[in-house]
Amino acid sequence: MKQLIKKRATKQVQLFLLSLLLMMAGVSCQNGTSEKGKVSSQKGNRYDAQIRKLMSKMTLEEKIGQLNMLSGDGAVTGPITNTNVVKEIKEGHVGAMLNCYTASYTRKLMEIAIDSTRLHIPLLFGYDVIHGERTIFPIPLGESCSWDLKLMEKTARIAAIEASAEGVQWTFAPMVDIARDPRWGRVMEGAGEDPWYGSLVAKAKVRGFQGNDLSNDSTILACVKHGVAYGAPIAGRDYNTVDMSMRTLLGVYMPPYHAAVEAGVATAMSAFNDLNGTPCTANSWIWNTMFRKEWGFKGFVVSDYTSINELIPHGVAKNLFDADVLAFNAGVDMDMVGNGYIKNLKKAVEEGLVSEKEIDSSVYRILKAKFELGLFDNPYKYCNEEREKNDTLTPQHLAVAREDARESMVLLKNSDHLLPFSKKIKSIAIIGPLGNDKSDMIGSWSAAGDRNTEPVSLLEGIKNKLGNKVRILYAKGTDIDSHSTEGFAQAVSVAKEADVVLLALGEGDYMTGEASSRANIDLPGNQRELADAVIKANKRTAVVLMNGRPLTISHLNEVAPAILEAWFSGTEAGNAIADVVFGDYNPSGKLTMTFPRCVGQIPIFYSHMNTGRPYSPTNHYTTHYLDCPNTPLYPFGYGLSYTKFQYDSLKVDKKVMTTKDTLRVSVVLKNVGNYDGTEVAQLYIRDMVGSVTRPVKELRGFKRVFLKKGESKKLVFKLTNQDLSFYRKDMTFGSEPGSFEVFVGGNSATQYKTNFVLK
Ligand code: BGC
Repeated sequence: MKQLIKKRATKQVQLFLLSLLLMMAGVSCQNGTSEKGKVSSQKGNRYDAQIRKLMSKMTLEEKIGQLNMLSGDGAVTGPITNTNVVKEIKEGHVGAMLNCYTASYTRKLMEIAIDSTRLHIPLLFGYDVIHGERTIFPIPLGESCSWDLKLMEKTARIAAIEASAEGVQWTFAPMVDIARDPRWGRVMEGAGEDPWYGSLVAKAKVRGFQGNDLSNDSTILACVKHGVAYGAPIAGRDYNTVDMSMRTLLGVYMPPYHAAVEAGVATAMSAFNDLNGTPCTANSWIWNTMFRKEWGFKGFVVSDYTSINELIPHGVAKNLFDADVLAFNAGVDMDMVGNGYIKNLKKAVEEGLVSEKEIDSSVYRILKAKFELGLFDNPYKYCNEEREKNDTLTPQHLAVAREDARESMVLLKNSDHLLPFSKKIKSIAIIGPLGNDKSDMIGSWSAAGDRNTEPVSLLEGIKNKLGNKVRILYAKGTDIDSHSTEGFAQAVSVAKEADVVLLALGEGDYMTGEASSRANIDLPGNQRELADAVIKANKRTAVVLMNGRPLTISHLNEVAPAILEAWFSGTEAGNAIADVVFGDYNPSGKLTMTFPRCVGQIPIFYSHMNTGRPYSPTNHYTTHYLDCPNTPLYPFGYGLSYTKFQYDSLKVDKKVMTTKDTLRVSVVLKNVGNYDGTEVAQLYIRDMVGSVTRPVKELRGFKRVFLKKGESKKLVFKLTNQDLSFYRKDMTFGSEPGSFEVFVGGNSATQYKTNFVLK
């Protein structure tokens, strides 16, 4: 065993040093030396013979056609208007399409490919099914706060059922980019800041989309994105440069992609960003070395939207021809709407810059996906109008969306048990720019969800809950991003009139997602002033936040008696919020991304290093700000409940463990409050001394536990050598002997701890 570890370690050092050299030199493996050439076929793959037979009939041009992806008429579901696309499909120049859905639209395009091309090769239809297709679930950042992996798998399963019923066989999800900078608008698309947790979510999502059998009518290809480290752009500005140490890259940013590969993800997307001097779409180290050679990834890689063309402005290619050669040799199999591969790869082969054998490898991988989906048996199996009618937006799917939304919500503050509101109140005022909103609260990337009609607004949700028994008042107060105070008087007047107030504040969905970075992450417009006025008018005001990122809400935290973070929670948002506010569901969500006090603290995350001068209030020359504490407003893992949980009797089953042992950490969790409820109990470790500096805490376990009031339960967490391992000084992955602390509690700030030694 030891020998095996040593051998693996040596191999890793060699591989690392080699790849580091290549990466530093910006060198991509050229034809002949590339790993790609070695996988021109995948022995043992059940479709191998069929794929080879088909490929033996294909011309080079037809092969390159398979590497080309074009866009349909966006989210338009009407007739095919882009005649150029039709022509290109007929000529065998298209392997895949994006932004096409509905059974009838995809069928029309498929018919062209099947009926008009020489080899009748079916098309792949890819779409951004990020948090649902028709039934929209909470945004992924919100959903990750549920810590309910089974439910996350289930929502991906439902998304796959609905997408596949609408002709889509491939989703560009999950996005697994670790996000520690809330200025970046795309934090909404991932599972937050932690690599260990993000890896579990990545696996759950891949399992949900792909199931066990891709040939099943309701499973679709997943696509892990954006490879890699897209979530760490300098200053949080989308598409900006990423410059990070190899240790942080391998230890923090890469694990979720690796996890997705381990879960069998069928495809991957290359990111827009430059990584340490080499844009990801031209980075052979990422695709050929790490994904394919080191991790054994067998699927295909698609570029991001024109990310190959963008190698020109990045300044690593003179023209599109050079960009295509670079990207292809770096391991990017498919060109998303760049129209470059189709123009240039033939010439690149003729000039000996790209080998035909490598083109074969890429075509093989793409055809394999099509065979696995069963498209060669029946290209129309996903264009089923009957299924489209029966399997989308079903009551069952909506019920899961409601459950998912409730579980995602995080209670940030609840002074004097203001929440839950009693159903016996006589009147309630719904106030705020998101109080009767539909299209924003569904969230960015809402696929085929009808933003204007399908989502349940907060006002509707409250009406559904209370019926005619309670007087329901409404005032918008202000717009999401407005400075007009015209609506304030009415807002104050309804606030005064009502027993309790729900104040719905937050962002517009357009403020989050792609190209939506914000330098200032306060509540937009004059919502803060609206909050001051309304809370002054009625102290029994609970704020409901709808947003796609952590916001800087220190002021709101001071003035508002209660704050519920509802995120953009999808089709059933209003009903789910009503469930939580009126106590039909006791909130259990815990943050997966730290909330800063102010923008100057960013990037802020729980798993930081200690520094040589950790903060001490009695020593000025320790790490701190003059104008803001170091601590966040709400830490990672934080979230309140209507009840109260107590942790007790923390123990390890041995004080000394070996690398072969499993350490059992136990704690007794008790519900000591007045409601039944669910707690997400979390376990963190700290490696006290390492060959390199180690984080002050690292999440290594959690349990989602339901306890009736008064009930208690012993929880047992397990730790193995894998949990204690990291990239050591020599960049091998493994543990080091020494002392560890182990913390258990309800969030990452817990100081309830014990310790053990690894021998
Ligand atoms: C985004 C990807 C998305 C692709 C296709 C790009 O702009 O970065 O996340 O999958 O578009 O819509």
